[in-house]
This record gives sequence, structure tokens and C-alpha cells, in this order.
Amino acid sequence: MEKTRDGTPATVLLVLMQCVLASGAVEVQPSINPAVVGDTVTLSLSPTTSLKSGRWAVGDSLILTWQGDQQAVFPGHSGRASVNILTGALTLSSVTMADSGVYVVQSSEPQLMANTSIIVLEPISNVTIRVNQTKLMEFNSSAVIACSVSSGSSPSFLWLNGSSEVTASERVQLNDENSTLTVANVTRYDQGPFRCCVFNRVSNSTSDSVNFTISYGPDNMALTVNGQNTTSFLIGSNLTMFCSTQSNPPAQLQWAFRGVLLNTTGPLLELYSISEDQSGSYSCLAFNNHTNMNSNITTHILIGKSPLSGCKHHAANMWILLVLSLAGLFLSTPGKL
Ligand SMILES: *[C@@H]1O[C@H](CO)[C@@H](O)[C@H](O)[C@H]1NC(C)=O
Ligand SMILES: *[C@@H]1O[C@H](CO)[C@@H](O)[C@H](O)[C@H]1NC(C)=O
Ligand SMILES: *[C@@H]1O[C@H](CO)[C@@H](O)[C@H](O)[C@H]1NC(C)=O
Ligand SMILES: *[C@@H]1O[C@H](CO)[C@@H](O)[C@H](O)[C@H]1NC(C)=O
Ligand SMILES: *[C@@H]1O[C@H](CO)[C@@H](O)[C@H](O)[C@H]1NC(C)=O
Ligand SMILES: *[C@@H]1O[C@H](CO)[C@@H](O)[C@H](O)[C@H]1NC(C)=O
Ligand SMILES: *[C@@H]1O[C@H](CO)[C@@H](O)[C@H](O)[C@H]1NC(C)=O
Ligand SMILES: *[C@@H]1O[C@H](CO)[C@@H](O)[C@H](O)[C@H]1NC(C)=O
Ligand SMILES: *[C@@H]1O[C@H](CO)[C@@H](O)[C@H](O)[C@H]1NC(C)=O
Ligand SMILES: *[C@@H]1O[C@H](CO)[C@@H](O)[C@H](O)[C@H]1NC(C)=O
Ligand SMILES: *[C@@H]1O[C@H](CO)[C@@H](O)[C@H](O)[C@H]1NC(C)=O
Ligand SMILES: *[C@@H]1O[C@H](CO)[C@@H](O)[C@H](O)[C@H]1NC(C)=O
Repeated sequence: MEKTRDGTPATVLLVLMQCVLASGAVEVQPSINPAVVGDTVTLSLSPTTSLKSGRWAVGDSLILTWQGDQQAVFPGHSGRASVNILTGALTLSSVTMADSGVYVVQSSEPQLMANTSIIVLEPISNVTIRVNQTKLMEFNSSAVIACSVSSGSSPSFLWLNGSSEVTASERVQLNDENSTLTVANVTRYDQGPFRCCVFNRVSNSTSDSVNFTISYGPDNMALTVNGQNTTSFLIGSNLTMFCSTQSNPPAQLQWAFRGVLLNTTGPLLELYSISEDQSGSYSCLAFNNHTNMNSNITTHILIGKSPLSGCKHHAANMWILLVLSLAGLFLSTPGKL
């Protein structure tokens, strides 16, 4: 009794094994995988085999069966599935994402069974970005850019600043599976253009750009006289002082001489045929009315009879200082005793 019970499954197993052995050499090869919605996909047997009859199924549902030159397509696939009655190759047209699955071909003449898994993906389309604010203050503002697509299977997100990829850092966060970019405490170098690139295995698409207007400065001031860093000039020379600073919006510039404001505004201060009494400190004062910050730079100009007169003045001053300090030391010594 026990033996007959065991006997039946043993036979089934044997048939199955023959089946597996027979099909071992045959594989199903899809013409495209992954496929894109709308594609036509052909599933061929490899090596090419001549089949007299058989059937195709996807998952648990039958697609079609054929016998000789007769084929019958089941309602779920009518009009978009057909078989090559000689080779058994299945052609599916206008595939949709729902057509993703395991496709199984079975034949009794010769006996074989083989399958393949195909996936149908929707291409990425209409990538849009949204930003919560674009006018920012350096070191003080944070901004969030969110990227979305109107359609597309399993989208992956990648961010670009200009042509370089944005990676997460202390100030830069990527959230929601990289679909959201947060830039904290922006700097002047974060102005963009930022774009979002979305891709999957079958397509990619890039958004429009977003630019930030970042207010910063004034800082990094520089002052040149006649295009140089020289500070000593001859009587009768013409001087063009040029003041530069990093600022957005551009800083308002004003000039001062010996600490007193001059009427001159803008980056240039021009002095013609200078005289000795124009020696002194020249300052350029910068103000940014968006950041409400200011900065300044001062240069000490010496005007003399020869180009070295500045140095001579300097040397003379050093002598006087030395004599005075020696005298001071000499005078103060008895006082303390
Ligand atoms: C597909 O074939 C492989 C062997 O090639 C087998 O392991 C697997 O069970 C089959 N899958 C289906 C759904 O028939
Ligand atoms: C693109 O996406 C935006 C936002 O998701 C939507 O408003 C717009 O209608 C979409 N356009 C197209 C052509 O799908
Ligand atoms: C934009 O997002 C940042 C970061 O979350 C936040 O600090 C900022 O206040 C937001 N701006 C606006 C206008 O909501
Ligand atoms: C942004 O700046 C503020 C103030 O300087 C600081 O407290 C904060 O930690 C900074 N945030 C980041 C992410 O660097
Ligand atoms: C997010 O982007 C990083 C690279 O910046 C990548 O390593 C990671 O796999 C991405 N995460 C997802 C969910 O796509
Ligand atoms: C993006 O798609 C274009 C075709 O639309 C292709 O030429 C390009 O190689 C793709 N780029 C990536 C990174 O997949
Ligand atoms: C952002 O700036 C770039 C140049 O840096 C420009 O080509 C692009 O049109 C700007 N984008 C927007 C939305 O203004
Ligand atoms: C002036 O000096 C600054 C800093 O010392 C330097 O960066 C700059 O190149 C100099 N300019 C000229 C014209 O020599
Ligand atoms: C200074 O400028 C004036 C007027 O532009 C010019 O006539 C004169 O020759 C200049 N002097 C020198 C020393 O370059
Ligand atoms: C500065 O300009 C104002 C008018 O803009 C004028 O009244 C004043 O006299 C000028 N001062 C000097 C020192 O040039
Ligand atoms: C800031 O200064 C600019 C000139 O640099 C001027 O056009 C603008 O009106 C000023 N804005 C305010 C708010 O004062
Ligand atoms: C120039 O800048 C210094 C700080 O660098 C500041 O103490 C000073 O008040 C500024 N001078 C003017 C006239 O703004």
C-alpha cells in the first residue's frame, strides 16, 4: 500500500526530469529587454527549433496555442500576440507595463519547456523642478529644489550644478531618494545653474535650470594706483586709483582722503598734477545695500621730488624716532632712581 503511493509521485518526477532534460538546451531570447511601453517584442527559441504545436503563457494566463498552421489567441492578448508556427517565436506588439512577467513556452512535439522574464518600462517624461526661493543671502539662506516627473518607471535622480554632479556634503543634502536637493547656508559659488537629470534603464531626461541670486560682500577689496601696488609718486604726476571688491549686487563705492569723505563715488579716483600736500591715506569705502554690510581699504600715498623721496622720508622719520627714543631712555633713567 505504501509502495503504490510512493510509485505515483516517482513517475511524475521522472516525466518532469525528462521534460527538464529535453528543454535543457533550449532558451527563450527576447528581442529587447527591458522593453519600452509601445515596443514590439519577439521571444524566440534558441537554438532555433522546429515546433509542430505548443502554447505560450505569461504567469498563469495563456496567451495562445498552436497546432500545425492553426493558432488560437486568448482574449487577453487578441490582436497583439502571434506565433511563428514554424519556430514557435512569440511576437507581442504595443506592450504595456502590465506585460512584464515570466513568459513560458511549452511544446509536446518535441517535448520542451522554457521561459524568460521580461520587463516593460515607461520612459521618463516631463522633468520639472520647483524651488522654494531664489533670492538668497550668503551664509544666511537655505533653499530646497524638488524634482518630479509626470511619468516614468522607477526613476533615479541626479543633480547637476553647471556641468558637475552635485554630491551630498555638510551643506548639501539629497532627500526623498535624491529627488530633493537642499542647499544650506549658501555661498556665492552656489548660484547654479542647477538642473535635475532623471533616468531609468530605458531613458533619461533633464529639467530646465534654476539659478539663485545670492547677495554677498563687499569683501576681498583691492586698490591699485596707476595699475600698480606702488605707493610713492613724483610731484606733478597724474594718479588713477582703482578700487575693486567682490559684491553682489555691486557695492556702492566712495573715496576718502585722510579719513574725510570726498565727493568722488565709483571705482576710480583721478588726481591730476599732484602736489606734496596730497600725500596721505586714501580710502575706498564699499557698501552693499542688500547685505547691509560694508568694507574698506586704505593705501598710504607719498608724493615727493624724486621717486625715492618716500623712502627718504621714511628713513628720516626712523632717525628721528631712534634719537627720540634714545633721549627718552636717557632722560627717564635718572627719574626712576
Ligand atoms: C523558468 O526556467 C527556470 C530554469 O530555466 C526554472 O528554474 C524556473 O522555475 C522557470 N520559471 C517558470 C515560471 O516556469
Ligand atoms: C509636466 O509636469 C507638470 C508638473 O508635474 C504638469 O503641470 C504639466 O502638465 C506636465 N506636462 C506634461 C506635458 O505632461
Ligand atoms: C526654503 O527652504 C529652506 C530650507 O528648508 C528654508 O530655510 C527657507 O525658509 C525656505 N524658504 C521659504 C520662502 O519658504
Ligand atoms: C548654517 O549656519 C548656521 C549659523 O552660522 C549654523 O548654526 C548651522 O549649523 C549651519 N548649517 C549647516 C548645515 O552648515
Ligand atoms: C542618491 O545619490 C547617491 C550619489 O550622490 C547615490 O550613491 C545613491 O545610490 C542615490 N540613491 C538613490 C535612492 O538613488
Ligand atoms: C540619455 O538619453 C540619450 C538619448 O535620449 C542618450 O543618447 C544618452 O546616452 C543618455 N544618457 C545617459 C546617461 O543615459
Ligand atoms: C541660468 O543661468 C544660465 C547661465 O549661467 C542661463 O543659461 C540660464 O538660462 C539661466 N536659467 C534661468 C532659468 O534663468
Ligand atoms: C598688488 O598686490 C596684491 C596683493 O599683495 C596682488 O594680489 C596683486 O596682484 C598686486 N597687483 C599688482 C598690479 O602688482
Ligand atoms: C596729466 O593729465 C593731463 C590731462 O589729462 C595731461 O595733459 C598731462 O600730460 C598728464 N601728465 C602726466 C605727467 O602724464
Ligand atoms: C560735493 O558735491 C556737492 C554737490 O553734489 C557740492 O555742493 C559740494 O561743493 C562738493 N564738495 C566738494 C568738496 O567738492
Ligand atoms: C541699492 O543700490 C542700487 C545701486 O547700487 C540702487 O539701484 C538700488 O535702488 C538700491 N536699493 C536700495 C533698497 O536702496
Ligand atoms: C574700515 O574697516 C574697519 C574694519 O576693517 C572698520 O573698523 C572701520 O570703521 C572702517 N572704516 C570706515 C570709515 O568705515
